[in-house]
Amino acid sequence: MQQGYFITGTDTGVGKTWCSVALMHYFIKQGKSVAGMKPVASGARRINGRLINDDALLLQQNASKNFSYDIVNPYTFAMPVSPHIAAEKVGESIDFSRIIDNLCILQKSCEIVIIEGVGGWLVPLGPKFGIADLAKQLGFPVIVVVAIRLGCINHAGLTFSALRAAGVLCAGWIANCTEQDMLSKEENIQTITRFSDVPLLGILPFSQKPDFGALACHLKI
Ligand SMILES: Nc1ncnc2c1ncn2[C@@H]1O[C@H](COP(=O)(O)OP(=O)(O)OP(=O)(O)O)[C@@H](O)[C@H]1O
Ligand SMILES: [Mg+2]
Repeated sequence: MQQGYFITGTDTGVGKTWCSVALMHYFIKQGKSVAGMKPVASGARRINGRLINDDALLLQQNASKNFSYDIVNPYTFAMPVSPHIAAEKVGESIDFSRIIDNLCILQKSCEIVIIEGVGGWLVPLGPKFGIADLAKQLGFPVIVVVAIRLGCINHAGLTFSALRAAGVLCAGWIANCTEQDMLSKEENIQTITRFSDVPLLGILPFSQKPDFGALACHLKI
């Protein structure tokens, strides 16, 4: 059966990419063929004439098969701003059917596709639609990455509420320890668990450098 997960987070910079790649390694270790996708990316460098986003590159490089960059990341914008602004600045609009076409290509040769969103759940992608609409359209269960830092209990609760209101299936959340010296880390994680019915899929420890194989060992889906 073809499967996938849509990875969102409580904010930008919470560890969606690190968790997405760790999830890819988790499934690869289980013997599955896995692809990563970043449908929309804002913030990119021009390399040999084409725009390249670092998240998309990492997802491309960690897949179990070779896919061209354009398949992994159909929409790349140079400006590191909200994608609806970045798209408008260059006169482009984001078309979900192009994203779905690319997803179908990945699904044809991989059993699992890990799709990284942009920023948090309510980020706009156009004048009247956003990440939540894209995730709903793609139809995969959603995983929420929560950066364990001051404010995370509130941010996690707000994101879970928004997912519930949108009627999407939430497969779980990942506690990502982005701060080495976070006070009361465990209590924060316990509080988020206690106040929600969303399963905790793993606690990723603070790591100076990403060792995605090692991080994958902290996950259980
Ligand atoms: N477990 C961790 N331990 C230590 N640092 C981390 C961890 N996870 C993430 N970070 C730090 O946070 C940064 C942002 O992580 P990441 O790029 O995965 O976030 P993101 O949610 O994908 O961001 P964006 O919204 O830009 O896509 C990383 O470059 C790294 O410096
Ligand atoms: Mg990212």
